[in-house]
Amino acid sequence: MTARSEQGTNVTSLYPFPEGWYFIATRDAVRKAGLVERTWMGEQIVIWCGAAGQICVARSVCPHMGSDLGPEAGTTIVDGRLVCPFHGFEFDASGQCVATPSGAPARSARLELFEVHEVAGLIFAWWGLRGRPPQWQLPGLPQSGDDWTDLQIRTVRFAGHPQETSENSVDIAHLSYIHGYHNVTGETPVVIDGPRLESRFGFSTTRRIAKVAKLSLEVTAVANVVGLGYSFVEFKEHSIGFDARLWVLATPVDGKLIDLSIVSRMRPLHKPKRFIVGLRFLPPRMRAPIMNKFVADLQIRDVQQDVVIWSRKHYVPRPRLVRTDGEIMKYRAYCEQFYPSEREPPRL
Ligand code: FES
Ligand SMILES: [Fe+2]
Repeated sequence: MTARSEQGTNVTSLYPFPEGWYFIATRDAVRKAGLVERTWMGEQIVIWCGAAGQICVARSVCPHMGSDLGPEAGTTIVDGRLVCPFHGFEFDASGQCVATPSGAPARSARLELFEVHEVAGLIFAWWGLRGRPPQWQLPGLPQSGDDWTDLQIRTVRFAGHPQETSENSVDIAHLSYIHGYHNVTGETPVVIDGPRLESRFGFSTTRRIAKVAKLSLEVTAVANVVGLGYSFVEFKEHSIGFDARLWVLATPVDGKLIDLSIVSRMRPLHKPKRFIVGLRFLPPRMRAPIMNKFVADLQIRDVQQDVVIWSRKHYVPRPRLVRTDGEIMKYRAYCEQFYPSEREPPRL
């Protein structure tokens, strides 16, 4: 899933693993692979599907004698149970050892599980400082029908921090300077409610398609940041007339690198106000998936422009701001709640 990896020279004094919900896999990927292992928060986790279809996430260490529990070590999933490759202990979806090859289950053997939340087939796991349980939940999606396209997902890995990537949603000034947007407006003040932050903005932009045609878009957007791993943006494009949804999901990998996943989906385009090149020749049901791919390509191009900066920047705790910078300090004050062990964000 990782499209590009950049080590970078990012320097931050922020604690690398703020508390929150973080994207770890899609349900589809878990279903296809059976068992997924990945690195987050500096350690390995495994993800599989239990007997009743529930997604399970556990630390990838067997409580018996410490085997790794990833597929490369030889772990298997049998009837929704995770079977350790070392001595064959079996663990159910609650993490409990329920069988061993030699007789009675080891009652004291239990996997360390993480809480899981699913949004539109995207799987999130809760990371609590010092093992704290979830302090808040991710919101459900706004009700607006179920006719959205499948998800397009692109992931980039680079040296960075989730607080700095989410800061983009209030950093209005960079939209025109880096991404070349025009008429950028921060329409209302940023609204903060506990772990939620809402920011509204608008812009217009002109993009090239396949180096031959120009496409002008006029967009208004509402960004919902819910913790530092989850941003959900609803876009309305007004000149063609389409709706798009975008998730920007940052997951710390090892204290230096993060995975940033851009996920998009789009509403079917039944009656576009105007056609972009080639779109009129497609059957209506094909238009939205192709536009969605196009929008995903545009978004990942924007993100790659940001990554050049993010992966090399320093975190400046007291930025020297100007009036047109947007509500950076209000955002930074909001972020402090995700480092609950100290009043100030914990230092490395
Ligand atoms: S280490 Fe897992 S069963 Fe022994
Ligand atoms: Fe950006």
